[in-house]
Order: sequence, then structure tokens, then C-alpha cells
Amino acid sequence: MLTRLLFIAAFSLRLLVASGQSTDRYTIIPRPVQLEPRAGEFLVSQHTMVMVPFAQADLKAIAESFVNQIKLSSGMSLSLRTLDKTPVSGANAGANLIQFLPLRDTTMGDEGYHLTVTPQLITIEAAEPKGFFYAVQTLYQLLPPSVLGKEHGAGSMGSLVGPASRSALPALLVPACRIQDKPRYVYRGMNLDVSRHFFSVAFIKKYLDLMALHKFNNFHWHLTDDQGWRIEIKKYPKLTQIGSRRRETLVGHYDDFDPQVFDGKPYNDFYTQDEIREVIRYAATKYINVIPEIELPGHALAALASYPELACTTGPYQVATKWGVFDDVFCPTEKTFTFLQDVLTEVIELFPSKYIHIGGDECPKTVWHRSAFCQQLMKRLKLKNENQLQSYIITRIDKFVTSKGRRIIGWDEILQGGLSPNATVMSWRGINGGIQAAKLHHDVIMTPGQFCYLNFYQGDFSQEPVAFGGSLPIDKVYSYDPTPAGLLPTEAKYILGAQGNVWTEYIATPDQAEYMIWPRAAAMAEVVWTPLAQKDYNDFARRLPTHFERLSHLNVNYARTFYDAQFSAKPTSEGHVEVTLAPNILSPDIRYTLDGSIPSGESARYEKPILLTRSATVRTATFQNGKPLSQLAKLEKDYLVSKATGKSYTLLNAPTSGRPDSNYNLTDGTTGGIGGYEISGVVAFRNDLNAVIDLGKLEPVESVRIGFLKYTAKNICLPKQVEISVSEDGKVFKPALTARTNAAESGKRAIVRLPFDFTTTHARYIRIIARNVGKVPVGLRYPGKAAQLGIDEIEVR
Ligand code: ACM
Repeated sequence: MLTRLLFIAAFSLRLLVASGQSTDRYTIIPRPVQLEPRAGEFLVSQHTMVMVPFAQADLKAIAESFVNQIKLSSGMSLSLRTLDKTPVSGANAGANLIQFLPLRDTTMGDEGYHLTVTPQLITIEAAEPKGFFYAVQTLYQLLPPSVLGKEHGAGSMGSLVGPASRSALPALLVPACRIQDKPRYVYRGMNLDVSRHFFSVAFIKKYLDLMALHKFNNFHWHLTDDQGWRIEIKKYPKLTQIGSRRRETLVGHYDDFDPQVFDGKPYNDFYTQDEIREVIRYAATKYINVIPEIELPGHALAALASYPELACTTGPYQVATKWGVFDDVFCPTEKTFTFLQDVLTEVIELFPSKYIHIGGDECPKTVWHRSAFCQQLMKRLKLKNENQLQSYIITRIDKFVTSKGRRIIGWDEILQGGLSPNATVMSWRGINGGIQAAKLHHDVIMTPGQFCYLNFYQGDFSQEPVAFGGSLPIDKVYSYDPTPAGLLPTEAKYILGAQGNVWTEYIATPDQAEYMIWPRAAAMAEVVWTPLAQKDYNDFARRLPTHFERLSHLNVNYARTFYDAQFSAKPTSEGHVEVTLAPNILSPDIRYTLDGSIPSGESARYEKPILLTRSATVRTATFQNGKPLSQLAKLEKDYLVSKATGKSYTLLNAPTSGRPDSNYNLTDGTTGGIGGYEISGVVAFRNDLNAVIDLGKLEPVESVRIGFLKYTAKNICLPKQVEISVSEDGKVFKPALTARTNAAESGKRAIVRLPFDFTTTHARYIRIIARNVGKVPVGLRYPGKAAQLGIDEIEVR
């Protein structure tokens, strides 16, 4: 009976927890393990006292930083009492109190905490400083978002603002609740590549602040790569004198221009060892460990440009000015090992991190294969192939790092040729490397590209700022479960956690970095912190708007792509185009224009599919109470309406991509898109386009316009000739036009709409032949390769 009662009590509590978290009083990210809503609020006011009844400097520092932030954001000075041996209880406190207490519940671990809020008292309990720190991050997220701002900070208008303005700030109410919380994974990481583009110490500190707010505990700092060596090494000054400088940088995306265009501007920067120490110290106050990555044996061009004697050939080498993987890598000579060990010695002295990341990814074996030295070394060591040579290098470095009391992390390529004994594997090429390593009982950090690469597109690639490629919307990040299904519990325990990666080939500025990182890293925070059973994307989406307010107060240039409406379109039987706009999960108000102008809160409201009877640009934005939610200068698509729209056609040659089944790809009214390495809405042909469009009835026709994709970096060229003929019966065709076109045209990739005008004639059938040039012409990126044609839309007028 008692058991039954307890069961019912527990069950009702669960319901309360579930419904409680679905109100806007509680919008904590990452979602806590357990949150019991309670009635009432605690008011943080001038009378609030923060009590830390222990003589512990780090707890005092945590409490002080809270008090300072309240002062910065609200101007209010809370009193802070430390070293008081007698804990004050709510009952005898009088004034309202925020108290830190030791936690006796040992199941919460060293990062867990209890946070109890009543109208009189806030109690923070934890076993270790980390737990108190995370409890305070949660407390910030129970308070109004403005608490994270600096409205009253030094140099702001704060000191000049009178009482009237101050009273406009929201009351600092904390909704009552009881929270018990601890992380799902011990490793919760974010990385930043500072080689492709450099980021200042000030930016890194802001990044660390944001990571801490989201309870991340590892910052993986990618310090060296082909495009720049960014850490001062005293013993090898040329690494920064030469290796931190590149002559210029590729403009646009790798595939944007043929030939590639460079900006002609020298790019250089690096961190001094003092700056590195400053970042490490700062991170430590946020309970974030900083893991340096020194890339080897690949991604080494900046080092080889500085010290060519570390390569297998004489060079000279240049710090790379464009992106990619380069054949020139470290040569495994004793000189190279001495160099690497010297560098790692300085790195280990600087960084207290248990983990030192040594790269290991994307190391081509081409030069080793050709090198007499490498081949002799392999013979002497009885290595069967170059993969084993790579494994030999990693194992030697592992031994060295381990001898210094540290552990290496390597990208999953270090599994090739045999995994070094003490290595932790970072699985990025999908999850299989991680699974393989866990089965070998090696520690694993999961960071598979398809879920964790925040340099991929978060929205429509043809609309977003240029990015690497790939599609990773926030809901996909959120959906990730780092522990692969199918691992035994004895293997799954090797999955330490996961990490979001920020590669900066196409992220040149702090604003763009923040745009790519936030809010997707907030989803990643929940992936690594929140228990699977508590994860719920709809609930996360409900909390996100409040979280956006926090990010605004923190001056973060976060992306609002989350709010974008999704476009889809289809032709109608009348030859028009029907455009459907799907709202985002929060169903905001979608407004649109049809003339390409920027939508406002007064523009037409989207209520049902838009019927386009003429070609138009549909531009959308989402609003709430007349205020824009999505970025306004974005999201437009061109639709083309002509006599061909929705009409069927036959193709003599089958396309190699597109949707030949629907038969509407070339006449469906939708235009193609390009971005990163992605293309949409384009039909490709290895030979000629030979299409006959059936207009359904005799019509006067005088012009055909064809949208050709010119993407010569992918061997998609303009045709060399276009021939148009017309017919009344579909059997006898008479020529209307033959036109030469320039298949050798280079420059920026684009969809080029070429018009073909001819004398007005009556026809039902129109044959369009576009002649593929066959071989890619000289002057383009890959001359002599098989050329393709790409076509998005055919219009007939
Ligand atoms: C990587 O993205 N090459 C680890």
C-alpha cells in the first residue's frame, strides 16, 4: 500500500515536472536533469545578501562574480558575506538570502548541484566549486535576460541614468523551484580554428564566457595549420616570424571563381605565450579546460615554410593562401621528432590540460611514398605501408606526451595503421572511428561532421552567408546522441562526450563566428549535458526566444535562421506557380513581398499558398507583434512563370541528376541555388540537352530563355551551341534559331539565363538542343575533363 502511494506521488510529481518546464517561467539551456516548479518568486533586491559560509577562495570568487554581474546589469549592490561559520537558515535570516551550502548527496558528482528557490531563500548546494559555478549559471537563466547585460557597466550610460530609467529595468525575480542537476557527459567541448582566421584574446574570452553560460567545460584551440602557425614557440621563432604570415587569402568560396581570386592582402597574427597564459587563466575561472592542438604530421605547411628542413623535399614552402589538404607534410626524421618534442615541451609547460591534441587528420601519404628516406625507414622498422608509418609517428609522440604525464587526443585517422596505446580518439568522419575506438577500450570524443560541424550551413545555402558546405540546421544538432546505439555498456563508457567544431575557412570576423556558433552551440550544450529522457526539441524551441534575449544582452551576433520560413513551390495545371511558406516551429507571423522589397510588419501576411501568375521574387520575414524575428535582408527566391510552366516535356538523353520522374524540374517555375559545395534545383546532363516541350496547344512563341549553371570548378560548363526548332504536330519540326554560346566562359559561378529570341511563330512543340562542349575547354580549372551541362529552368515566351 505504501509502495503504491509512493508510486502515485512520484507519478504526479513527474507530471508536475513535465508541465512545469513547459511554461515560460523556466527557460534554462541546457535543460536541467530535474526541475520541480514551485509557486511564488524570490526578489533579488538591495536587501539581498549572498552568504558563502566557508573559507574557500574559489567559492568566494564565484559569489563575487555573481554580485559583480548583478551590479553591472542592474546597478544594484548586493552584500556578500563570506567566512561566516554559522549557516543562516531562511527562517532566521530576516533579509532575503542566497546561500551556498555543502552538498551531502554524493550522487551528484563534482559538477552537479542542487538549487532551491523559495520566496525567502535561494540555496545553492554542491560538493565542488564546479557545481556551485554551474548552479550560478542556472540562476542567471532563472533571472530576467537583462541580468546578463552590462547596462550599468563602466563607460556605459548607466551612471547617468536617473531613477526613472532604472525603474524601467525588470524586477530581478527568480521563479521558485527545486532543481537537481548534473551533466550527462564529462567532456563537453567547443573548438575554434584560429589558423584559417585569427581571433583576438578579447574574442576568445567572450567565447569562453558564453561556453560557461552553457556549461561547456573544454575549449579545443586549433592553433596550427597550413594557413598559419598561431602560437609563439620560444625555441623556434620562425614559426611565428614566417609561419604566422600568409601572403594573401582566397576570396569567396573555394569553388566560387575559376580561376580562383585572391585578395592580395597579407594576413598575420599569433598569440604570445603571455596571451596564451592569460586565456588559460581566464578559462580556469570559468571551469573550462583549454586543450591546445598542434597539428601533425599533416596540415603542416606553415611549419614547413618556417623550417623547410622538416619536410621530405627541399621546398621552398609557402604558408597556404587557400583551403584544403596539402601533400607536403612533416617528414619523420629524427630532426622532425626533436622539433615536435621541443614544441610540445613548451606547449605542455604552458597548458595544464591533461589532454594535448596532436591532430593526425588528413595526412596525404604521397610524399612519403616517393621519399627514399621514408621508404628506407619503413624497411628498417618493418612497416608494411605508409599508414603504419603514420601510426609509428603518432605512437612516438604519444610516448613522449605520456612521459610528461599527459594524454594525446587525435582525429580518427590515427586508427589507420594501428591505434597508439594511450590515445583518445576524436571521431569526426562520422561515428565509426568512435565506435571502433570504444570497442578497443580507448576514450572517445564524438564530433561527427554531420551533427557537430558548425561551419556547415544552418539554413538555405543559397540564402545564408557563404559557408563550407553541408546542411546542419539547429534541430539536427539537437537530435544528436553522442553514444552510438549498439555499443555494449562496457564500451559505451568510453564515450566521454561530444564537441561542436568551428572551422574558420569561411569565418573571417567575430560577427560571422558568433553567427555560425549561436544558437547552434546552445543545442550542442543540451546534447552533452541533458539526459536523453529530458531532451525534447519542441521544448528547447520554446526556451530559445528567451535565450535569444540573453544572447542579445551579451551582444552576441547570433543567427535567427531558426525563425526562417521554409519555401516550397509547385506548378499548377493552369501554368502558374504556387508557393508555400512553412512557418517555423513557433508559428510566427510570416510576411512577404513580391517585388523583392524588404518585408515589414505591414507587408502582406502569409495565410495560404501564394499563386504567382507572373514571374516574381518572393521575399519573406517572420514577425511577432510587428517586430521582426528573422533576419530581414535574407530569404528571397525567384520564381519564373512562362508558357512552359508546368508543361510536360520529353528528353532524348536521360539526365544524371534532378528528378526526371516528376518531369517538372525544367519547367516547374523554381530556380536553382548554389552555396558552399551545394547545388539545388539543377538538372545535369553528361551529353546534350535534347528536350521537346509540349505547350498543350498552338501558341504564338518568340523566345526561349534557359538557365544554365556555370560551375566550371565542377566541370559544369555553358553549352557551345543552342538550337531551337518548333512544330505544330510534334513530328515535323522547323528550325527557329541556332546560336553559338561560349562554353569557355570562366569567372564567378552562377546560373546564367541566356535568352534566345526568334521570329514569332505558332507552335505547340518546341525542341531545344543545347550542345555539351564535351571536354572542359582550356583556361578552365580542369581542362580536358568530361564536361556536364546544368540547367535549372526553361522559359518560353
Ligand atoms: C577535420 O575536420 N579535418 C578534423
